[in-house]
Amino acid sequence: MQKVNLAENIYYLGFNDRRTTLFENIWPIPHGISYSSYLIVDEKITLIDTVERSFIDDYLDQIEAIIGDRKVDYLIINHMEPDHSGALKAIVQKYPEITLVGNKMTFDLVETFFMTPEKVIIVHDNATLELGKHKLQFQMIPMVHWPETMVTLEETNKILFSGDAFGSYGTLDGGIFDDEINLDFYETEVMRYFTNIVGKYCPQTQRAIKKLAPLDIKMIAATHGPIWRTNLNWILSRYKKWSSYDLDQGVVIAYGSMYGNTQKMAEVIARRIAGRGIKNIRVYDVSKTHSSYIINDIFKYKGFIVGSAAYNNALFPNVETLLSTIEHMAPKNHLLGIFGNYAWNGGGVKNLKTFAEKIKWEMVYEPIEERGALKSDMHEELLKLADAMADKLLEL
Ligand code: FEO
Repeated sequence: MQKVNLAENIYYLGFNDRRTTLFENIWPIPHGISYSSYLIVDEKITLIDTVERSFIDDYLDQIEAIIGDRKVDYLIINHMEPDHSGALKAIVQKYPEITLVGNKMTFDLVETFFMTPEKVIIVHDNATLELGKHKLQFQMIPMVHWPETMVTLEETNKILFSGDAFGSYGTLDGGIFDDEINLDFYETEVMRYFTNIVGKYCPQTQRAIKKLAPLDIKMIAATHGPIWRTNLNWILSRYKKWSSYDLDQGVVIAYGSMYGNTQKMAEVIARRIAGRGIKNIRVYDVSKTHSSYIINDIFKYKGFIVGSAAYNNALFPNVETLLSTIEHMAPKNHLLGIFGNYAWNGGGVKNLKTFAEKIKWEMVYEPIEERGALKSDMHEELLKLADAMADKLLEL
């Protein structure tokens, strides 16, 4: 095994998952995902988080290859979601004298998922733990993105073990540190990880960023994706922007269409907005593109226009899925337009109006509904909707 050091006696223990197709059994990960755990070898040997359960055997071997017959003294649990706690039970079985370190909520979840641990240390904000030459400091960042979430600062080398925060989809294909990688690849994967997993908790993320700002941090080691040691501002600036709903000039147009009439309405709107000089326009067929990608662009762009065919007196089901994802994530500060189409009864636009009332984004124009083929009066209305959206976007 090739050992990877973050600093002297601090090791990366990570695995690439190219088999899982849906992260959390929801979100597509065509480029896979990595799981990272860390090991500090000192007078007290300490693990920081573990890995997903399918890597347990290799994980235990990696630890043993580094520490031999010595025992692991502490397991720091920054986050209890099973992609990081999957090997917890195996670690406790192999090192029964181990002490688990977490906060009160951590141990509530340890019991919920696994067991009542024998030896624990319950930590709180600013608590520290001496390992010998290394000293750890703990900070709570609840709801980024679970209630027990905390981060651990290794004070000697100023390494922040950040859990999911600042993590990414995408495997580590050889390069592990940010300066070993062309970060263009991670541009989408980091953002999609943020919007899909953490994005619901933007206010809590903002709070965490402010709380961690005074700390002297030289490296950020998350549980997914690259270790940030050179371009810390690359990841920090993005998290600051996304979590503050700082949106760019652009529009997402998402539609659900069975026979093409709703799609044609979307094309008219998109073409007109482009004609007004807006260059960031993403048009999505919700039957083709998973909401993981659409919500990602909704976190990027100020405008959102949604169209639905009526389906059995209701929304087109895939539009309903997207809107449910949006309501769940609740991004803010958007401009909204809605349109739809029906053949023998309504149901699409009626339910889009209900969505508009719930999400409370600024409606740029009144709802537009056509029956069947697009006719000249509704064509004109679509142009007005497009103009209203473009007018607002051009003010940015
Ligand atoms: Fe990577 Fe929230 O687990």
